[in-house]
Amino acid sequence: MTRRGETKPVTDSPVRENREQDTDNRLHPWLAVSDLTTGYADVQILWGVSLTLEKGKLTTLLGSNGVGKTTLLRAVMGLLRPWAGRVTFLGRDLTRNSPHSRAKLGMVLVPEGRQLFTEMTVLENLELGAFSKRAHAHYRENLEKVFAMFPRLAERRHQKVSSLSGGEQQMLAVSRGLMAQPKILLIDELSLGLSPIMALNLFESLTRLKEAGLTMLLVEQNVAMALAVSDYAYVLAHGKIWLHGDPRQLLKNDDIRQTYLGL
Ligand SMILES: Nc1ncnc2c1ncn2[C@@H]1O[C@H](COP(=O)(O)OP(=O)(O)O)[C@@H](O)[C@H]1O
Ligand SMILES: [Mg+2]
Repeated sequence: MTRRGETKPVTDSPVRENREQDTDNRLHPWLAVSDLTTGYADVQILWGVSLTLEKGKLTTLLGSNGVGKTTLLRAVMGLLRPWAGRVTFLGRDLTRNSPHSRAKLGMVLVPEGRQLFTEMTVLENLELGAFSKRAHAHYRENLEKVFAMFPRLAERRHQKVSSLSGGEQQMLAVSRGLMAQPKILLIDELSLGLSPIMALNLFESLTRLKEAGLTMLLVEQNVAMALAVSDYAYVLAHGKIWLHGDPRQLLKNDDIRQTYLGL
């Protein structure tokens, strides 16, 4: 965290430090964040963050605890006002649009901590995910899809959410997002607090969603698993994109291995 007006730390990127270099082959992003700057009150958290997501790809955003990943997702969703910079989605500048209008266009966030209605049933939570007109029209079909992906939720559809395990609740949080008929799914901390087997189960579901053509941005603490399933990865450090590139290349990077994998 850095206060406004302080000099910000500069870190050399051994993979790619200048993202302008690769805009040529990433010309038509599904979503683009350009030079985004924001924070809370007078505390600046993000210092000119740029990233792009391509259609049908799973992109991962990594970074230490407290670096600003959730802040970035909230700014992308319009839940936090940017101080500067732009968010474009499907070629439209949505920087000033409300979260509601972004959701209507198909931008859906699976928030950190899930934020489910725990005193309601699984099915009621899924119904709430399908609130928009566009999503409502696909309600039956989407319900079948999420139940096929997560049979445990189908079995527990009439149970209160508070009776589910952490892993099942996370399946439900992702499923509620899918019920909204997303064009892009932003997932904040998919595997946090889950057992390794449950985490694996959820990561496998992302692979299936990608095969079905969904565009996703994943924020994840489990760096090894995230890099194993993603098509592209960004690393946020000191409020900026520090590194980005092919996940296989990043896995070979000594700084990544030491900082995020403890190797
Ligand atoms: N509502 C808030 N008000 C003030 N500071 C906040 C708020 N939310 C987060 N922060 C601070 O912003 C920084 C980035 O937080 P966050 O985006 O949640 O990080 P991450 O998701 O990478 O762990 C942290 O220093 C955190 O304490
Ligand atoms: Mg977070």
